[in-house]
This record gives sequence, C-alpha cells and structure tokens, in this order.
Amino acid sequence: MSDAKRELLEITRAAHAWVAWHEECGSDGLPAGDPPPARAARDDARTQGARGPREEPRTPRAEPERPAFAPPNRREAAPPPEPRKAPAARAGAPALPIPSTPFEGAAPASAERRTRLGVLAEQVAPCTKCELAKARTQTVFSRGNPDAELMFVGEGPGADEDAQGEPFVGKAGQLLDKMIVGMGYARDDVYIANIVKCRPPGNRTPEPLEMATCLPYLTEQIELVRPKVIVALGATALRGLLGPGEGITKVRGTWKLYRGTIPVMPTFHPAYVLRTPTPEVKGMVWSDLKQVLKQLGRSVPSRKD
Ligand code: URA
Repeated sequence: MSDAKRELLEITRAAHAWVAWHEECGSDGLPAGDPPPARAARDDARTQGARGPREEPRTPRAEPERPAFAPPNRREAAPPPEPRKAPAARAGAPALPIPSTPFEGAAPASAERRTRLGVLAEQVAPCTKCELAKARTQTVFSRGNPDAELMFVGEGPGADEDAQGEPFVGKAGQLLDKMIVGMGYARDDVYIANIVKCRPPGNRTPEPLEMATCLPYLTEQIELVRPKVIVALGATALRGLLGPGEGITKVRGTWKLYRGTIPVMPTFHPAYVLRTPTPEVKGMVWSDLKQVLKQLGRSVPSRKD
C-alpha cells in the first residue's frame, strides 16, 4: 500500500472514531474544538449516570410545578424496588438490614398495633445485642401516637433522652416540637422513633454495626405504625431508612420511598439547625415540612420563627 493510501486510511479511521465519540456523548453535528481524551469521555459518562448525557435535554426546560408525590399504588403492580446495595465506602461495614419489599398485608387495627408495639418495647428494653447497651441508662423506644399519619425518625438518644427514656426531649427535641406545632399538629399527634434505641457514648454517631443490629426494631415499628409519610431527620436517619447513598445536603427536600411504599422526606436534623440557625437552613427545613403537609393534604400554616 502506498504511503498516501495509508495516510488516507488513517485519516478515515480517525474521522470514524471522532464521529463515534461524539455520538456516544450525544452531540450532533461536527464538534468544534478537540475531542477530550478517551478516558475523560468515559469518566464523564460515569458521573452522568449509566445512560449518559444523551438522555438529558440539551436546553434547560422550565421546571413544571412539582405535583404532590404519588407513591405507587400497590394494586397497580408497581415494579419491585431495586435491591439495596451494600455500603461501598467502608470496607467490612455490615449491609444495613433494610427490607426492600412492600409490606405484607394490611396495617393492624389500632388496638392490635398498640399491643404489638408494647410487646416490642418490652423486647427492646433488656436488649444487649450491641455495644451500646453497656453505657446506656435505659433504652429509648418511641413517643407519640401509634396511629399517626406522620412519623419522624432521628438518629439515637442523647443524654436527656437516655435519662428520661423518651426520644427528642432535649434541646433538639424542643426544636422538633416547635416544628411539629408549626406544622399544625399537637406534639403527640405524630410518632417519633430513632435508628438506634440506646445512647451512643458521648453522643457519637452510631457505628454501622450498631445501626444494623438495631434496625429490625425500627422496621417493625414502621410496619406496625404504617405512617403515610416519614420524615428522616439528618444523615444517620436517612442512611438507616434508605441505605447508603447520597448525603443529606444533596437529597433533603426530595421525596424518597421506604420499601417502595411510604414517602420519605429527608431534612436536616434539628440539632444541625440549632448549630446553624441561619434563615437559609431554617427556610430549607420549613420548605421540606411544607412538602410533607402538601403530601398529607393538610393546609400550610403561616410560618412563625
Ligand atoms: N437526637 C436524635 O436523633 N434523637 C433523639 O431522640 C434525640 C436527639
């Protein structure tokens, strides 16, 4: 083959590769400027999701008004939720035992719910399944109304809760109460529980193993209460309810689903709001709670800080 022909062949191959790369990236027409190296293209595709940018609209569209979140109707045979992935970040961390299947059967009637929650609380009280049992004064099971439409899930008891045996009775709890009343509920209209039932020493974040050990109790609480909406307070509650994934700052204010059935609204933990009481942070939490009210078909009281 002559040099000229070889050169022509190479130019043709390069042109094919160029066009293929741009198709891969979803661009039409011939590109302006140099294509980035192949590796950068691959990395881009990874960070933009499996389907890549071709699926994305090329020009920003006006945001449609967000409809009230509609969890799939179980009778409409919703596709089963994706199995949860094991935590990737910490090698050796246990997978959190979060069921991914919808609930079996109907919610129990009020009397049976109360009886079964009472039995569960009695099982939790002497629990020594993890290290947290050693330093606690007592377990902290729940507070509020077992028939509630709205459930708040926090991280775990602090010193005040450990002393009094009820969740959210300290400073963060007082702020949570204000939030609840601000939403138009009485303090005990809602149901409140935590990811772990014993106080982590020094109020540290519960370890993955402690969370994994304790989570079956919360799973049963949710199964019995069967609230219409769950508010996940902070990063640990979010991880405990939905598994490892994006952080609270990223997902707060966006609806998630617990077991493909119960809408979950992640928001900042009241303790974070106490530490960072800026109008911006308070505004974000209030906007998340307003979404909850909308989802529950309740009117939004005007906000008093
Ligand atoms: N913080 C929590 O997450 N839960 C409590 O019960 C108290 C403080």
